[in-house]
Amino acid sequence: MMGSPLERKGCAFGSHRVLEPPGAFPQSAWRLDSTPVVFDNEILCDVDALNVDSASFRQIAESCEDDAGRIAARILEIVRERGKQHNPHTGSGGIFVGRVREIGAAIAARGDVRPGDRIASLVSLTLTPLAIEEIVRIDMTSGRVWVKGTAVLFERSSFAPLPDDIPAEVALAVLDVAGAPAQVRRLATPGGTVAVVGADGKSGMLACAQARDRVGVSGRVVGIAPSAETAGARFLIEGNYVDAFIAADARSPLEILGEIPQALPELADLTVNCVNVPGTELASILCTKDGGSVYFFSMSTSFTAAALGAEGVAKDVTMIVGNGYTKGHAEIALQTLRDHPALLAHFVERYGVQPEAA
Ligand SMILES: NC(=O)c1ccc[n+]([C@@H]2O[C@H](COP(=O)([O-])OP(=O)(O)OC[C@H]3O[C@@H](n4cnc5c(N)ncnc54)[C@H](OP(=O)(O)O)[C@@H]3O)[C@@H](O)[C@H]2O)c1
Repeated sequence: MMGSPLERKGCAFGSHRVLEPPGAFPQSAWRLDSTPVVFDNEILCDVDALNVDSASFRQIAESCEDDAGRIAARILEIVRERGKQHNPHTGSGGIFVGRVREIGAAIAARGDVRPGDRIASLVSLTLTPLAIEEIVRIDMTSGRVWVKGTAVLFERSSFAPLPDDIPAEVALAVLDVAGAPAQVRRLATPGGTVAVVGADGKSGMLACAQARDRVGVSGRVVGIAPSAETAGARFLIEGNYVDAFIAADARSPLEILGEIPQALPELADLTVNCVNVPGTELASILCTKDGGSVYFFSMSTSFTAAALGAEGVAKDVTMIVGNGYTKGHAEIALQTLRDHPALLAHFVERYGVQPEAA
């Protein structure tokens, strides 16, 4: 970098950090400059932990045969090669939590963040310049990766202060998937039927809770996941977050079709896809009634499979790409937990893992 970066104003969207290819924005770029020196309109953070996106973590873990040492080496390799945690196979990233170390003058003038603040990033790691010195620990269940490193946020990058009333580890897990409950709140209607595919994961459970609130007593919520015996599935069933639960593999449309007459005869007005594996587009479409909507939150979604799948079964459904950003999504996601203390307790037990216990 030339001159004093502090005196230089970068692009609000971070294009000044793109090393290759020229002209790209950070998300689509192959490689970013993650040098930990702030420009005038950047925020430099010391990173404590990454919440690696579930589809990405699963792909890395499978390719490394669930060996934590190999997973750590692979994550370091990706970050060193690309200057960001952007899984080249899934195309997805995650978010980080950390402490603000330094802010550029233009950010200081905004007055919404100060050095020392503990924050969670609300923009994807696929566009966040990241440098990792060391991977301290990995929690295989949650995909949490504790690191010593630095990250840069741009002028337009969203972030949230960590809440005082929810453990940081839980907030990290929830904020990564904040778009899901926020969109369900917007799309579900009173009296309607909502199907949640991948119901017993992070985004799935938050989606079920929001759906339950929105559809009310006259509506129905139906959860779908491979097993009804997981802690999450049992919680949803026993807590009446779902009216029916389909234990099936959503990669098998035939298996789902076989379950629909009993559990979802009216079909869903809204289907929310929250899985972390590829190949579940058609099952989600089959769950949805003509005129209904499918919200593909999953990063494993294929546009081709969704578009051609719907055409092939003559389903006139509106298909929505899971935009990671929705106005107020962080607050809506955290409030979902506050409104459901039992769900908060469940998340604390499942995702509140501490670095020393991982
Ligand atoms: N759009 C966005 O902005 C955004 C942001 C963050 C994350 N995401 C994506 O959202 C998805 C969910 O993330 P998450 O953190 O909630 O994941 P998660 O906690 O790992 O949950 C994944 C869920 O998918 C279920 N599942 C796995 N295989 C399945 C199958 N064959 N049939 C039915 N269900 C299956 C899992 O069931 P079991 O637990 O029983 O295996 C679990 O309920 C991921 O693809 C992630 O990449 C999107």
